[in-house]
Amino acid sequence: MSTLTSLFLCRISALAGVLYLYNVTEGDTGSYICQVFRSGQDIDIQQKTATLLVQPGSPPTTPSLLPTPRTVTVAEGRPALLECLVTGGSGVSIKWMRTTTNGSTIMAKDDGRLKISGSSSLLISSTVKSDAGEYTVCHIQSGSKVFYPTAPPVFLERPQVYTRILVQRDRLKCVATGNPKPSITWYKNGYRLYPAIGDQDAAYYQCVANNSVAVAFSTTWIDFKQQPNTPGPASDVHVEPLSSTEVQVSWSPAILPERFPLRAYTIDYSKVHDKACPGHCRYLSEYKREATQNTHIRIGGLHPFTRYSFAVQAYNANGAGALSQPVVVRTLEAVPSGFPDVQISHDSSTSFRVTWSELPPSEAHGLITNYKLCYGINQVMSVKILSADSRKYLVTGLLPDSVYQVRVLAGNSVGFPDAEDNCFPETDAGWMRYHTAKTPLTETSDTVLHVESVNASALQLSWSPVNVSGMSHFRVVVQQMIHGAPVMEFILPVHTLSLIVTDLVPRKFYQIEFDVRNADNDVMDHVTEWHQALGPDDLPEPPPPFVLTPTPLSAIQIKLTWDKPPTHMNISHYTVSYERQGGDKLPRLVQAEFTHTLLTDLQPFTWYMLCVRTHTSDRYGPYSKPVIVQTKEGTTTTSVVLEDLTGRLYFFKLGACTNAGEGLPTQIVSVDVRTCDSCPDCTTETGCKNENLTV
Ligand SMILES: *[C@@H]1O[C@H](CO)[C@@H](O)[C@H](O)[C@H]1NC(C)=O
Ligand SMILES: *[C@@H]1O[C@H](CO)[C@@H](O)[C@H](O)[C@H]1NC(C)=O
Ligand SMILES: *[C@@H]1O[C@H](CO)[C@@H](O)[C@H](O)[C@H]1NC(C)=O
Ligand SMILES: *[C@@H]1O[C@H](CO)[C@@H](O)[C@H](O)[C@H]1NC(C)=O
Ligand SMILES: *[C@@H]1O[C@H](CO)[C@@H](O)[C@H](O)[C@H]1NC(C)=O
Repeated sequence: MSTLTSLFLCRISALAGVLYLYNVTEGDTGSYICQVFRSGQDIDIQQKTATLLVQPGSPPTTPSLLPTPRTVTVAEGRPALLECLVTGGSGVSIKWMRTTTNGSTIMAKDDGRLKISGSSSLLISSTVKSDAGEYTVCHIQSGSKVFYPTAPPVFLERPQVYTRILVQRDRLKCVATGNPKPSITWYKNGYRLYPAIGDQDAAYYQCVANNSVAVAFSTTWIDFKQQPNTPGPASDVHVEPLSSTEVQVSWSPAILPERFPLRAYTIDYSKVHDKACPGHCRYLSEYKREATQNTHIRIGGLHPFTRYSFAVQAYNANGAGALSQPVVVRTLEAVPSGFPDVQISHDSSTSFRVTWSELPPSEAHGLITNYKLCYGINQVMSVKILSADSRKYLVTGLLPDSVYQVRVLAGNSVGFPDAEDNCFPETDAGWMRYHTAKTPLTETSDTVLHVESVNASALQLSWSPVNVSGMSHFRVVVQQMIHGAPVMEFILPVHTLSLIVTDLVPRKFYQIEFDVRNADNDVMDHVTEWHQALGPDDLPEPPPPFVLTPTPLSAIQIKLTWDKPPTHMNISHYTVSYERQGGDKLPRLVQAEFTHTLLTDLQPFTWYMLCVRTHTSDRYGPYSKPVIVQTKEGTTTTSVVLEDLTGRLYFFKLGACTNAGEGLPTQIVSVDVRTCDSCPDCTTETGCKNENLTV
């Protein structure tokens, strides 16, 4: 045991004796005894031992404050020690602030009487009455960095106890400081409260300020008082949603005291949150107010498919009557305003995986009933309608090395965003691009895949033993080809040699993709097969073509080509069905001997839906997935040949007609047939024209 007064100081204040050790090392480990002396006498009257254990390790780099007594009481004239213990950081210095009784804040400065003791505590050597007040550590400086210490919430303004007159709409104020910034929550008679319309009950209101350091409470009693001779409440409040943004509010007239006629009705309304709200609470946000002298009002500018609470209040010269019972009504649905976020991930050179997010309620504008997945190349789009719970889809049957555009639209009972042409990339909104891989792996496949029917709803797959160095597993994807049914996916260990797939839809065609993959999930070998789910007695049908490629040639012509469907049957011909989108009652049909056809006599700038089925000599299969394509823009007729002209000078003007009538004609063009001989471009087929001559 040694006494090290030069290093340690055992300080005694009216409340506590504190020993500070700075820059502690392992050598400081040991027992420390604090001895208390009475001044002027050399006998110790009390002593206390404390043990210090120093653990190896480096202190935290960010300084923080250790908890210390919050209130210090001393007799006047005695020294006061306001402790502040900082741990961590290096070269730490502290600034103290003092809030005086008149409310101003000043920096507590070292002035002889006040001084920083150790490196961070504040010592007032001989206190005077005016030293009383609130002292705070305003910041900790460590090197060039300044840290703001955490502080418990302290109320700057508390809700006042008062009686509120009904007409008043003032707020209950509750302001607190602290670090971190405290959150403020309200409770009414102990239940969580959210600012609400129509809160006119006498109750205890409690404001709670909370941060990670502490929780502070402030409670008040509030009563509501109605002035004499004010109107009675408006009754039978009825709210009728008119549209997604408008409602009609109506009510029965309020009973008015004699000699005090109505001045106006006010209608308060605010959004009601859809969140589940426990206990007796109500979720309401900022309210708005309208006024009228009628007993009805139309309120617009509301959000679609949103619950609003409405309450009516009558006013006369004496003030406001009681608020009516609030009525909660939801505005009608509107088409969604946004697009789900889409992610596209690699699957194979002829397929990709699309996943998408849910729309937030602020964009869904209703309950989502379906998703529409649009994908395609160069305005040739395929469409899949998927159920409301789908969030992913495996798109198959694609062309390798091609850029696809993909968009997912969410639809509700009103429809999909921007109605009809929403599946065509005319605007950038919501469209994603995906470039499929170059190499179709099928061509180099070493794997032989056998597909056999078990029954009308099950098939058996078996494969020849493949041995690629580095292979880690097989992946099998079975997907119905015509309509977007769920994708069945199987991940199998490499010793597996067969698989039975059940739950197929009888007579439907399935695409079976078999991949050999390595540990990184890269495809090492790949086979695609097709299969129609058939029972033992069923006659197989020829499958439809799986990839249709329409090309608009002009305003009235579309060329359609397709891939020969994979089948061992002898194909005799194809039927192409085409119809205007939303137009024709019956589709038009044409037959094609080979894998292409030219559709003519179409309407300009019009979307057509095309599909193809395959025939053998004695039967035909189902139609393919439709593709949608638009004919080119333009006039249907751009030249006309006039024959057997007998005169010499002709005048022409050209006008355009639509179903709505005739448009303005062009300027008049005159043609002198005589000049034909001297015109170099002149042939008997085109006639001879001179457009520069105008009259
Ligand atoms: C408040 O008191 C301090 C001293 O305690 C003084 O310096 C300051 O001027 C006062 N401020 C006001 C607004 O009275
Ligand atoms: C205070 O806030 C903390 C989170 O900062 C939370 O865990 C705690 O429940 C809150 N306490 C009260 C009384 O609100
Ligand atoms: C078809 O075969 C599968 C597999 O053997 C079996 O699970 C299923 O019950 C069969 N279905 C019918 C309709 O026989
Ligand atoms: C696969 O081939 C490697 C050599 O390339 C051989 O060592 C391994 O035994 C083979 N595995 C099987 C299952 O045949
Ligand atoms: C398809 O037709 C060829 C002759 O045109 C014939 O030899 C072959 O047997 C036929 N195949 C089938 C599956 O009918």
